Amino acid sequence: MSDATRRRPGEIRDAIISFFQTHQREATPAEIRIAVADFLKSQIPESSVRSYLRLNTPGQFLQPSPGKYQLKNQSNENGQKPTRMPSKISGDADYGFGDASLWNADCMDWLDAQSDRSLQAVVTDPPYGLLEYSDEQQRKLRNGKGGVWRHAPSFDGHQRAPLPRFTVLDESHLLELHSFFNAWARRCYRVLVPGAHLVVATNPLLSHRLAIAIGEAGFERRGEIIRLVMTMRGGDRPKNAHEEFPEISAMPRSMFEPWLLFRKPLEGRLQDNLRKWKTGGLRRPEVNRPFGDVIESSPTRKAEREIANHPSLKPQSFIRQIVRAVLPLGEGTILDCFAGSGSTLAAAEAVGYRSVGVERDREYFEMATKAIPRLAALSVGGVGVVDAVDPVLPQFRDAFAVKGGRPRA
Ligand SMILES: C[S@@+](CC[C@H](N)C(=O)[O-])C[C@H]1O[C@@H](n2cnc3c(N)ncnc32)[C@H](O)[C@@H]1O
Repeated sequence: MSDATRRRPGEIRDAIISFFQTHQREATPAEIRIAVADFLKSQIPESSVRSYLRLNTPGQFLQPSPGKYQLKNQSNENGQKPTRMPSKISGDADYGFGDASLWNADCMDWLDAQSDRSLQAVVTDPPYGLLEYSDEQQRKLRNGKGGVWRHAPSFDGHQRAPLPRFTVLDESHLLELHSFFNAWARRCYRVLVPGAHLVVATNPLLSHRLAIAIGEAGFERRGEIIRLVMTMRGGDRPKNAHEEFPEISAMPRSMFEPWLLFRKPLEGRLQDNLRKWKTGGLRRPEVNRPFGDVIESSPTRKAEREIANHPSLKPQSFIRQIVRAVLPLGEGTILDCFAGSGSTLAAAEAVGYRSVGVERDREYFEMATKAIPRLAALSVGGVGVVDAVDPVLPQFRDAFAVKGGRPRA
């Protein structure tokens, strides 16, 4: 039986409306088709989406610009989107999708070209040890040659993604790490408004170094967000002596990923800062539930890894929760300086925020241009809902308890 004959009447219509209600922005039939197909878990021809949109315009939808549609009640009386805080970003982006803009550039240069106090938050997943994303190490990774990227053997039938080894960093690398992240944080400090949050993914072996470099740039430490996730780091028995020491692990099996939380000092009290700069606090997932600093997660699911084959891809279910929290009033622009395949921008798009990203590597930049619309269109749990859990968590929990899991993204 074909998908079309199994479908209940009105299913595509309902999925299109739900897409618009979730994303609150205009979209092309191609973007809508991807979201609807993902939602219904079946292939939908773009022509069905087009004809549905045309048939119901102007009754249900508006066409604010050629080839773009939006729900009628999503716009104001002039047929425009609700007014937003104007963007103060300098220069034309190399790629745009909805409210996300991406530059193929070095983030230090990009930051230098921006005005003071022009952004409201940073959420980013930088190269933890710098070395692993150097041109030389990326060449080795792409040629399957190793370098600092460890190609681990498959585990319980799962192919393990390569992981960078941070234990290889010597004293000069660590000094370089400090000066790079300090210079980067100083730049971020200048372009952020007072009260803006800076959330940075890191690794338990390096997080203290990063935290010192960021604190020295003037940010105040506001704690850490713990992503509870089974990684493939640590837990190994002594190399070449595992039979002799079967009960020994060299270091703990890592089961969390720290995300450092910093804030640029407020101007006045929190409420003053919120009124003036729209920043300073964290948006609650619900009015009666504060944002918490431990988030259960899982390794990035296969559906997302198939969209973006980046070695450090973060899962939408997790990153959307962080992104949503950092704009307390939902106003402003989030920056990801190390955008990779664009998962932060996709998350911002999915929760209806404006975002900008910078990615230096041409291949990853190209990957992001294809991945952002598709990642943004995915439906996942965990954003502003009561039970903020990842949809694959039950399976993950079993793996966690019994035998391990898949590698970290
Ligand atoms: C850990 S990855 C980010 C992955 C991303 N979170 C995702 O889900 O796809 C870090 C990225 O930063 C990029 N990068 C490294 N140095 C950079 C720089 N100075 N400016 C901009 N991007 C940089 C790397 O090429 C890499 O893609």
